[in-house]
Amino acid sequence: MEQQILILNGSPRAPISNSKAYAEQFMENCGSMAVYDTIIAQNHEALYAKMEQFSDVLLVFPLYVDSLPTPVLSFLKEWETHLPNKRPIISVMINCGFLEYAQNDVAIEMVKLFCKRNGFPFGSSLQIGSGEAILNTPFRFLVNKEIKKLAKAIINKQYRSQKVTMPLPTSLFVKASTKYWIAYGEKNGVSEAAMRTMDIEET
Ligand SMILES: Cc1cc2nc3c(=O)[nH]c(=O)nc-3n(C[C@H](O)[C@H](O)[C@H](O)COP(=O)(O)O)c2cc1C
Repeated sequence: MEQQILILNGSPRAPISNSKAYAEQFMENCGSMAVYDTIIAQNHEALYAKMEQFSDVLLVFPLYVDSLPTPVLSFLKEWETHLPNKRPIISVMINCGFLEYAQNDVAIEMVKLFCKRNGFPFGSSLQIGSGEAILNTPFRFLVNKEIKKLAKAIINKQYRSQKVTMPLPTSLFVKASTKYWIAYGEKNGVSEAAMRTMDIEET
């Protein structure tokens, strides 16, 4: 089958990222039609050339400070200076730590603005809330279902906007996630008090 989709993981911790796990699920749903790569500072030129062979690019990345993580920002910024003649259709699969998938709205708008300014068609989007947690819960099936739909939408070129999160009240999510992160800190020798300071480097 013809290769159609280039998946680009833009997480700063790509090899061990949630984005990688989401990308792998996506690939399970489109087999040899998709190829996976990661965005790093040293491979922009190679990826711009590689993208010429694909009709679709799927950017997979996390939400960082209500925005795009640096690898994606610098990749797009540099791309603006090397625009290809044949523009691929850009789709996005974004995941954020908070429960609300709408936290990702601004980041999606940023990619849409990039596309509009530079003549790239925008394709599908999948916004995943509770992206750090959902894969390790019984709600995993909900995200699997949406990723399957995303793959189908891009393959069939019937682009759409999708969203998914865990169907939990915010208070329960905050309680469970606080417990998780405190235990995680303890395991790594970081106290709750230290995690509650703003001094990332000093603690
Ligand atoms: C520096 C940093 C900033 C983050 N900012 C946000 C944020 O603004 N909103 C949010 O919901 N999650 C935020 N997160 C959580 C990540 O989006 C979440 O952990 C995600 O699953 C990481 O995906 P990855 O493993 O693919 O990198 C942030 C995480 C980090 C490390």
